[in-house]
Amino acid sequence: MADVKDYAVEEFSQHDRALMQRPYDFYDKVRETGCPVARSEQLGGFWYTTNYAATRRVYDDFRTFSSADGTALPKQPLPLYPIDLDPPQQTRMRKLLNPIFLPDAIQKYRPRFEAIITELLDEIAPKGEAELQEQLVRPTLATVIMPFLGVPRDDWEMLAHKLDFLTRMRVEDPETCAKYGVELSDYLYEFATRRRGTPPEDDLMQILIDARINDEALTDEEIVGIATLVLFGGLDTTSAVVGMALWYLIEHPDDRARLLGGEVDFPSALHEFVRYTSPIQGLRRTVTRDTELEGCPLKAGDYVMAMNGAANHDPGKFPDPDQVRFDRPIGNEHDHLGFGGGAHICIGQHFAKTLMETLIRAIFDRLPDLRIQPDFQPAFAVGESRVLKTLPVTFRAS
Ligand code: HEM
Repeated sequence: MADVKDYAVEEFSQHDRALMQRPYDFYDKVRETGCPVARSEQLGGFWYTTNYAATRRVYDDFRTFSSADGTALPKQPLPLYPIDLDPPQQTRMRKLLNPIFLPDAIQKYRPRFEAIITELLDEIAPKGEAELQEQLVRPTLATVIMPFLGVPRDDWEMLAHKLDFLTRMRVEDPETCAKYGVELSDYLYEFATRRRGTPPEDDLMQILIDARINDEALTDEEIVGIATLVLFGGLDTTSAVVGMALWYLIEHPDDRARLLGGEVDFPSALHEFVRYTSPIQGLRRTVTRDTELEGCPLKAGDYVMAMNGAANHDPGKFPDPDQVRFDRPIGNEHDHLGFGGGAHICIGQHFAKTLMETLIRAIFDRLPDLRIQPDFQPAFAVGESRVLKTLPVTFRAS
């Protein structure tokens, strides 16, 4: 077994704002040391993967790389289900959730998505300029995910603010995060309790309240854990991919024409955008027994970050990884790790793909001559997810 000293010790954290503006240069640098797993002493100390094979192994071996102590670093102050469980507990909950997220089940939401997007586009179209991320993409997604869960309209902004803070500020302001964690959880407990006493509605909260596994209802803790994860999982990730896809498609009219004209398979192109964007750059696992990962000795109790961003930009797996290429054979194989892999692979991916396709098509349909404003300087919000902050555009007012 190789000695630990053979492995690079390179300070790293996905909450590091400066580094995460250009993370792929950093991963390349560490990977080029020949090191598929590296060590950072930040955030209490952890290992992180720098190539595809090591990241894939972490996802595929849940017995050695457990999610039961959470998947975030620093830890989230709230339990999130089923992400914070290992099989078989996770499988039990996943079976219950699967039918809700199947592609056919998701199609029923398409007209709702379209109506919401049309309303937002109606506001923007006469103006001739817009900041697409703030004015269109994020509001659309909030407007979709919140009613999907069933939370009242008046609470959307408060919830979006707390979720954003908990995603971004856990290193800088852990006290406020702990406070917001308690408030969010109290809110969702109270919401679930209230809804048990009201007539049924057509939303996820109702499905969770009515759900039975072997004749047993979900506990309040399970319901709140699932609801919290859907809010966290659904908002930022999808905005991140749509933002990058719009930016790319505006600047590459030939690819845009191929995609919108049907020459390129839309779901496959979305997989490529998810790979390229990797909105969740990394997720934590806890090592359950002394083991080795790609030759690197790990001890029980160690933390490992499975770095989706490094895996998805590993040139050994994806040639020219920093380029968008619609001809990559990843659409059907799903072997990028942007949606994770193994037991926890994103259950919301059909939901996300339907939403992203609807949004991208509607935007180019209504605003076909979009241009990026010439002074645009890309900047990313970082933390649990990495998201393009702004996308300022101009277009012919209509
Ligand atoms: C482009 C958009 C999305 C990306 C990139 C993404 C990414 C991911 C990743 C990487 C995981 C794996 C977590 C792990 O292994 O620990 C995951 C799991 C999950 N995602 Fe997504 N997600 C997206 C959209 C959504 C949406 C729209 C929803 C819900 C409406 C959602 C709900 C979930 C849930 C519930 C899980 C946990 C599954 C489990 O633990 O078995 N995601 N997602």
